[in-house]
Amino acid sequence: MTLYDAACKVRENAYAPYSSFKVGAALRTVSGQVFAGCNVENVAYPEGTCAEAGAIAAMCAAGEYAIAEICVVADSPTPVPPCGGCRQKLAEFAAPDLRITMATLDGARHVITMAEILPGAFSAGHMDKS
Ligand code: THU
Repeated sequence: MTLYDAACKVRENAYAPYSSFKVGAALRTVSGQVFAGCNVENVAYPEGTCAEAGAIAAMCAAGEYAIAEICVVADSPTPVPPCGGCRQKLAEFAAPDLRITMATLDGARHVITMAEILPGAFSAGHMDKS
């Protein structure tokens, strides 16, 4: 199954009663495993948890911490970019050349790298004065 297909499949399980905007994300780790996540909203925080964060949580729960590729899918007019918070979360587990594919259910695609989507990212190195 491609990452696009995996993202479309998990998107169907999204819990988005407040926005009615379902998102699916599927990532492949450096070791080759695939993990998927969907957005999950709640009444107190209607923006809930993004699909990308769900896929990252599944990856970490399995003891994997390095993303090689990710695909995000929504039924939107144009491919939806990860939100600001998700960009930082992805940067934690990705190299600057990570390929991020944003796609729609209609098949439109846009590929961008981690460095392009979060230039000047804050990293652990910024806390190291030695
Ligand atoms: N959302 C994602 O899951 N990923 C994105 O990249 C953009 C936004 C979700 C969060 C919320 O449940 C809904 O889309 C509307 O913001």
